[in-house]
Amino acid sequence: MKLQDFHAWSINDREGFWREQATLIHWHKPFERVLDDTRPPFARWFVGGETNLCYNAIDRHLPARADQPALIWESTETGQARTCSFRELHREVMRMAAIMQSLGVRRGDRVVIYMPMIPEAVFAMYACARIGAVHSVVFGGFAAHSLASRIEDAAPRLVVSADGGSRGGKVVPYKAALDEAIARSAHKPAHVLLVDRGLAPLPRVPGRDVDYATLREGLLDAEVPVTWLESNSPAYTLYTSGTTGRPKGVQRDVGGYAVALAASMKYIYCGKAGETFFSGSDIGWVVGHSYVVYAPLLAGMATLLHEGTPVHPHAGILWELVERHRVSLMFSAPTAIRILRKHDHALLRRHDTSSLRTLFLAGEPLDEPTARWITEGLGVPVIDNYWQTETGWPILSVAHGVEPTPTRLGSPGMPMYGYDVRLLDIETGREVGPGEKGVVTIRPPLPPGCLQTLWGDDARFVSTYFGNFPDQLVYSTFDWGIRDADGYTFILGRTDDVINVAGHRLGTREIEEALIGHPAVAECSVVGVADALKGQVAVAFVVLRDASLALRADARQALEQALLATVDRGLGAVARPARIVPVPALPKTRSGKILRRTIQALCEGRDPGDLSTIEDPAVLEAIRGALAPADKAVQA
Ligand code: PRX
Repeated sequence: MKLQDFHAWSINDREGFWREQATLIHWHKPFERVLDDTRPPFARWFVGGETNLCYNAIDRHLPARADQPALIWESTETGQARTCSFRELHREVMRMAAIMQSLGVRRGDRVVIYMPMIPEAVFAMYACARIGAVHSVVFGGFAAHSLASRIEDAAPRLVVSADGGSRGGKVVPYKAALDEAIARSAHKPAHVLLVDRGLAPLPRVPGRDVDYATLREGLLDAEVPVTWLESNSPAYTLYTSGTTGRPKGVQRDVGGYAVALAASMKYIYCGKAGETFFSGSDIGWVVGHSYVVYAPLLAGMATLLHEGTPVHPHAGILWELVERHRVSLMFSAPTAIRILRKHDHALLRRHDTSSLRTLFLAGEPLDEPTARWITEGLGVPVIDNYWQTETGWPILSVAHGVEPTPTRLGSPGMPMYGYDVRLLDIETGREVGPGEKGVVTIRPPLPPGCLQTLWGDDARFVSTYFGNFPDQLVYSTFDWGIRDADGYTFILGRTDDVINVAGHRLGTREIEEALIGHPAVAECSVVGVADALKGQVAVAFVVLRDASLALRADARQALEQALLATVDRGLGAVARPARIVPVPALPKTRSGKILRRTIQALCEGRDPGDLSTIEDPAVLEAIRGALAPADKAVQA
C-alpha cells in the first residue's frame, strides 16, 4: 500500500485501522470499543480490553524463544557484560516484582527509578509493568532538585536506585543526590531499594533503605503472575520540560502504548523477531522507554543496553558493539554522530557492521553534512524521525514497512499513520501552504501510545497542549515546521523556551530557577544558542546583586564556578550552561517581559529584529559588549 493511502486509512477509519493493529499484541480480555473520544481532547483506546506490557514483551515469547537473548547488557565503562535470555529475564523480573510486593508496592502505586544503565533498571521497569505499578524513571544525569520535584509529584511508595553509574571513565555517584532529593521533597517514599555495584559510597538510612541483592537471594524462585490491566490504566509517567519551571508528568497507558510500539516496529523500524536492536538512549528519556526497553522485546527482538559514551574507551566503540552483537537496527541521536564525525572514518571501517540494516536518528535536527557522512560511512539507509516525549513514537518519518519511500535530506519525512498533522499559522490558526512556516499541530484524537494526560493534572494537560489556538482544539508540538510540495516536513525549532542540548530536552526556566537560587544572582535569563556539535547550548545571562563582582577577574571566575556548581547540584551536569555572562540588566518589554529571543539573536550574531517594545535599548549594547570578548567561545 502507498504510505499516503495507509495514512488516509488511519485518519478516515481510525477504528478499523487500529482494530487491525491491535492484533499485534495479546489481549487477555478483548476490548469493547476501539476508541472513546466522547470527551475531547481525551482519547481512550481499546476500552475494556485487558492486557499487560510485561506479558507482551516477555511471557508471550517464552514458548517460541525462551533461550534467545532478550536483554544484552554491556558496560564499556566497567567492562561488565551480561546477557539474559527471555527465560532469564522473565525470572529476574519476577524476582524484582516479588521484592517490590514485599515492600508493599501494589497496583497503581508509583515507583521512581533513578538508575544507571544496568539490567536491574530494566528488571524494575518490567516488574512495575507486571504488577500494575506506575514507574517513573528519572534520568540519572539529573540531580537533587530535579529528582525532588519528580518525587514530590509522583509520590512514589518506592524508589529504586544504585550506588552509581559511570560516564566517560568517571564514576557518577547517585546516593547523595537521592538522599538530598528525598530530604527536600514533602513526600517521603516508604522504601529505597538499592543495587550496590561497588562503584560509589552507599550509606543506608535504617528502616527505609533496603538491599537488592539480599532481598533477591530470598526470592530466587518467586513466581509473580501478571496483573491484567484495563487498556487505559496508567503504565508510567515520564517527566519532561516545558515553558514553566515545573516539569510535566507525561502519562501513558498500557494497551494503546503496546499497540503503538508493536505497530511502529512493524511499519517504521522493520524489526524482526530474533534480531538485535541497539538504541543508545538512556532509559531516563522517552527513546529509552520506547526503543530500549519496550518495543524491541514486544517484537521478539533482543535489546542491547549500553552503559557508556560513543567515544570511551575509543571512538569506534559503537561499531564494535554492532559487530560483536550482530546488531540489525540501530537508533541514535545526531549529536552522537557529530561527535564521531570529528574522529576518523577509518574507525568505523575497522569494524564489521554488515549486520546493520538501518540507522535511525531522532531527538534533534539532523543536519545534512552529518546525515551524508554517516550514510556514506555505514552504507545503509539513515532514517531521521521526529517525535516527542509526549507522543512516545514517531510523528514524522518514513515507513519502509509500508512503502519504501525515499528520504529527503534535512526532513524527518511525512506524517505517520494515526497523526493528523497540520501546520498552522501562529497568529490566525489557519493552515499554511507548502513552503510556509507554521506550528506543527495534531488534530485530536491523538493516536494510541501518546500521552493520556499529565499526571494528576487534566486541566494542565488541556491548557498546555490544546490551548494555543483560539476556537480550535488542536495539540501543539511547540515546534515550527515547513512542508515542501511533496509533503516532506522540515522541523525549524521550538516555539517555546525549551532547548535541545545534544538531544537532551531542557527547560530554560528550570535552569534559571536553579541560578536564582544562588544568593549572588538578582535576576537571570537562560537562552539556547546554536552550537555546531551539540545543536544548542545553554547560555546564562545573570544580573548580580553586587555588580562589582563581575569587574574583578578572579572574583568573576570564582562566581562562575559557584553558579555552575549550583546548576550541577540542583539539576545535574546535563543542564550546565556553556557560559555564564554577567550583565548589568536584562532587556525587557515595558510590561517587564524578558526578551529572550532578542538575547538569543544577539548570541547567534543575528539581527534582533523589531526593538520598538524594548524598555531600555542601552541594555542591548551592554549585552553585546559582554558577549564580544568571548564570541568565539560561544561558537566553539
Ligand atoms: O523540538 C523537537 C525535537 O525534540 C523535541 C522533543 O524532545 P523529547 O521530548 O526529548 O523527545 C525526543 C523523541 C525523539 C521536539 O519537540 N526533535 C525531536 N526529534 C527531532 C527533533 N527536531 C528535529 N528533528 C527531529 N528528528
